[in-house]
Amino acid sequence: MKGDFRRRGTWFPGGMSSAPSERVHHPVFARVYDRLSAASGRAGVAEHRDRLLAGVSGRVVEVGAGNGLNFAHYPSTVAEVVAVEPERYLRARAEEAATAAPVPVTVVEGTATWLPGNRRVRT
Ligand SMILES: C[S@@+](CC[C@H](N)C(=O)[O-])C[C@H]1O[C@@H](n2cnc3c(N)ncnc32)[C@H](O)[C@@H]1O
Repeated sequence: MKGDFRRRGTWFPGGMSSAPSERVHHPVFARVYDRLSAASGRAGVAEHRDRLLAGVSGRVVEVGAGNGLNFAHYPSTVAEVVAVEPERYLRARAEEAATAAPVPVTVVEGTATWLPGNRRVRT
């Protein structure tokens, strides 16, 4: 049925007005990921993030920001980060991380194909 198809979020009519957060809902994974990823900094991942983000500048859109572990690694050449995260628990953790970030970070609900501004993106 068309309505169900639409609700599951596999197709978005142009008129849909809110981000389809229900499509990415993994509460157990989110909590496990949050704990494991926090420990990853001690395993050298933080240095990797530094290298990854070195040289980045201007306005950045980070898609799938998770719990915001990249935020602390954005260099001062970045004017602003718009961090898109669909999973509710991780988005809340990202919002916490944003408050301590060295550059301005705005965390928003969305997905890779449903970015802020209600724009559908073809992939
Ligand atoms: C492995 S985590 C990476 C987090 C972060 N980029 C980092 O490096 O720490 C992948 C993230 O992508 C998010 N995600 C899953 N499906 C997505 C989609 N369709 N669009 C955008 N993000 C998505 C997940 O909720 C998760 O937070």
